[in-house]
Amino acid sequence: MSNPLVLLTHPLPQKWLSLLDNQVRLEIGEEGYAGFSPNLEKYLSEAYGILSLLTAKIDSTLLEQMPQLRVVSNMAVGVDNIDIPACTLRRIPVGHTPDVLTDATADLTLAILLAAARRLPEASLDAKEGRWGTWSPTGWLGADLRRAQLGIVGMGKIGRAVAERARGFGIRLAYASPTKIEGDAAHLPLDELLRISDFISLHCPLNASTRGLIGEKELMLMKESAILVNAARGPVVDSKALLRALTNGWIAAAALDVTDPEPLPPTSPLYKLKNCLIVPHIGSATHGARRRMAEIACENLLAGLAGERLPHCVNPAVYE
Ligand code: GLV
Repeated sequence: MSNPLVLLTHPLPQKWLSLLDNQVRLEIGEEGYAGFSPNLEKYLSEAYGILSLLTAKIDSTLLEQMPQLRVVSNMAVGVDNIDIPACTLRRIPVGHTPDVLTDATADLTLAILLAAARRLPEASLDAKEGRWGTWSPTGWLGADLRRAQLGIVGMGKIGRAVAERARGFGIRLAYASPTKIEGDAAHLPLDELLRISDFISLHCPLNASTRGLIGEKELMLMKESAILVNAARGPVVDSKALLRALTNGWIAAAALDVTDPEPLPPTSPLYKLKNCLIVPHIGSATHGARRRMAEIACENLLAGLAGERLPHCVNPAVYE
């Protein structure tokens, strides 16, 4: 029997895909295409698997055109690009890549939190552009970390890894999350967490209950000195409200690894603000994390094609 056809929504380095050698026939979407690449359309009816990136939207319209589909494997921990109930209804297991990006994402969170707290982008630009005069006792003053209060929204694996790192800086911890976890960090209602925190870091998944979770009301509850970090998903924060908050001084700064939309167009007013640090969704962008993510995505894919349980399945209801 010939190898099953798999649609890889975007090109990936061949060396990350070696598990698929001689196991599948790959058709590959276009580089840089935000969505499901049109060149894959002619293969939809015969494909058995999808290996997707988080930029590929997998919805019921697509699934309806894929009668043979046995597995969707997303090379990401977040699966908000996929209509999970629609997959479950069709008994299609969906795989994701947890754990292997936890450290990289938590490291990046601390990096952008520290950069915003110590105003690194602004200070670096001032130096480069000739605004570095004699050493100034009052220049580029930033926030102290020791004894500052960090509020973590979403205390899953990444939230906990951020907490572990923050402890090393002497930061005090509290969190808002649907479930209480073991440990000494205070478990608080979201409003209270926002009121007391010097830094607020978002690590919840994007779903119906977290879309727009941080809007005007929530931003107004925060301290004027607060720094908001988003390393979760852009739409967890209402971008328009965030722009008002940063412009009008409701909060001091934001550090964003994710935005709404992505990519954030160059015309976005957020880029113009000195108190808004933006990096292009690079939380998991380390050599090791990205390679392991690809390998796990291949493992999930191969298991699904073989009719076996996926090692990391987000909709185990398909097995009931
Ligand atoms: C990255 O954002 C991921 O969900 O893996």
